[in-house]
Amino acid sequence: MKVSHVAPAVAPAVVMAVVLVAATLYAVLPSATGSPDHMQAPVRVDGPLRDLAGRHLLVGTAVDHAAFTADPVYRDRVGTEFSSVTAENVMKWEVVEPERGVRDYAAADELVAAAKRNGQRVRGHTLVWHSQVPAWLTDGVGSGEITPTELRGILRRHILDEVGHFRGKIYQWDVVNEVIDDEGNLRDTLWLRELGPGYIADAFRWAHQADPRAKLFLNDYNVEGLSPKSDAYHQLARDLLAQRVPVHGFGAQGHYGVQYGFHSTADVVANFRRFEDLGLETAVTEADVRMIMPTDTAKLQAQAQGYGVLLQGCLLSRRCTSFTVWGFTDKYSWVPGFFEGEGAANLLDESFAAKPAYREMQAVLALAGR
Ligand code: G3I
Repeated sequence: MKVSHVAPAVAPAVVMAVVLVAATLYAVLPSATGSPDHMQAPVRVDGPLRDLAGRHLLVGTAVDHAAFTADPVYRDRVGTEFSSVTAENVMKWEVVEPERGVRDYAAADELVAAAKRNGQRVRGHTLVWHSQVPAWLTDGVGSGEITPTELRGILRRHILDEVGHFRGKIYQWDVVNEVIDDEGNLRDTLWLRELGPGYIADAFRWAHQADPRAKLFLNDYNVEGLSPKSDAYHQLARDLLAQRVPVHGFGAQGHYGVQYGFHSTADVVANFRRFEDLGLETAVTEADVRMIMPTDTAKLQAQAQGYGVLLQGCLLSRRCTSFTVWGFTDKYSWVPGFFEGEGAANLLDESFAAKPAYREMQAVLALAGR
């Protein structure tokens, strides 16, 4: 996924807000000219991200179920570091209904139960996507055995059953994932081809029917800043809201690559603001910043900047209610398996040691909470 980054003109007020944050960040550094008694001690930022975030932001991570089960260091850090969790894979359709009519929520239930023990909220991910769809469904549609009418019923049953199963336990659902392509058109998927564009409104209505309290999100990558793709999502959100479809939030995944550069914080804020002006919440849902291996100091510093842009963009937005990283340790990351020669995308290294990106997150959260 190539990050498209644009640097559009932004409202002066936003620029001022960013300047203030940036100035604050540096105001805590000892000034060369300040005398010792006037030098403000550097902000001592330590401690878990969830504590530094306090009540003003839910800070989360995607959870790798296999690692959570097998690795006590990983499991412990999930509980101590984050106030929100997302199932990286075990709430996806291919996992929860591996055979038609056979539902398996065991792994997801384990994560939800652990979250409850850890005082964490849970993001649901994801109900309708073109990837990780169970084979019995894609095969059935491909062979013509499953007609469009039958497929709509299958989708309805899936959403009502899964959202109903977790009713009251999920605070934000990624109802539809990656439904618009990078040119700003509805993505050409099995869902669009078989059911037409109405499947999106249907999905939100069925999810709301199954759990009226859950906040229902659109979610995609390359929509962190202003772009044709995020423009298309803004129009989609307006159209859905005009039809009184229960859409409550817009999620920007935040998958960055050091080699592609990043949006400006002001660009993120300007983008999020227009969804919030529609009455929606916003969220960063899958932040990570990969790089071409091997790592080096410059790449790690740039990575920290990438996380900082997304976190500051969220913190400077009026209704950005959660910030989730897509995994937190390089020991377990989806990136190397998907981008040959790339990796080191997370906040902690393979030994769970803090990288500059983790320190950046601590500092930004600490300053925001002052
Ligand atoms: O569980 C099976 C295992 O039984 C089997 O032995 C193994 C080898 O075939 O595959 C395992 O399933 C893998 C699954 O991750 C669990 O590890 C799938 O092959 C693999 O494709 C799947 O990758 C996931 C990917 O979505 C699928 O597109 C990544 O872990 C996950 O991090 C990634 O997450 C997505 C978000 O859901 C949406 N946004 C983009 C993000 C990154 O692609």
